[in-house]
Amino acid sequence: MKIVRKARELPPPSHRSIGFVPTMGAFHEGHLDLMRRARRETDIVVVSLFVNPTQFGKGEDFSRYPRDLDRDSAMAEGVGVDILFVPDVSEVYPHLPSTSIKVPEVSSRWEGAARPTHFEGVATVVGKLFNMVRPDIAFFGQKDLQQCAVIRRMVEDLYFSVRLEICPTTREADGLAMSSRNAYLSEDERRTAPALFRELTRCVNTFKSNSFVSTEVETELARSREELTSVGFDVDYFEWVSYDDLLPVRDTSQASAVIVAAKIGRTRLIDNIVL
Ligand code: PAJ
Repeated sequence: MKIVRKARELPPPSHRSIGFVPTMGAFHEGHLDLMRRARRETDIVVVSLFVNPTQFGKGEDFSRYPRDLDRDSAMAEGVGVDILFVPDVSEVYPHLPSTSIKVPEVSSRWEGAARPTHFEGVATVVGKLFNMVRPDIAFFGQKDLQQCAVIRRMVEDLYFSVRLEICPTTREADGLAMSSRNAYLSEDERRTAPALFRELTRCVNTFKSNSFVSTEVETELARSREELTSVGFDVDYFEWVSYDDLLPVRDTSQASAVIVAAKIGRTRLIDNIVL
């Protein structure tokens, strides 16, 4: 595996297909699953590792975000990554403030409401990385469902010539979605955290059952919010939304997901299940 720090050292266009997994490092099995899938489906696997300053808000965890290049590069090499692209901030942002990409509507709700500049930072860095890496296929995790919707909309609106593949969420044995931020949880918080997946599962099963009627949706969502609050979460949102643009839905006539964001102690966790 080659570690590359400059965009001009990335592979030039050729007949070999490029699979791309953008990341911020602190790898776990979720990241590795994306890399393994890229390995299976494309000729050259490029992974970017860049803790992107512009997607962190003031007071968020940019400075304390876990960074360990030796550990991460060994893990990437272990699953057959060809190129680990680790640019400096000045390589990605030759000018700051930068030219940037705003994706309206899809960015405004949920995570966007809680973190107002977050998705502009994400769309901008992913757009830049797409232009540097020129991938045929880019792999994203369903764990960050709204991020997927934002990138999908950006790719459509700006005619990026990349195919997006959304990969299922990798979970711990007790259901907790893997996340670099799980490292911030105390032992107690870690024991409580799987309640998120439990409540998502309960609602999804209820909404999918044939006997279910739409008038009960609010009751079920409220029940989950109350349950999470009672075990110690500060619930930001727990909602049933459309898969494409994350607008609230109340039946199964279109692809949808139940999504949650909740804080436990100082750590904010997100998760979702697609119906
Ligand atoms: P990061 O949080 O490092 O995540 C990199 C990729 O791994 C994202 O596509 C994310 O959805 C996926 N991922 C995270 N946890 C996962 C899990 N448990 N199962 C499956 N996939 C998972 O997301 C980002 O970085 C950044 O916003 C980025 C897109 C790199 C832009 O800076």
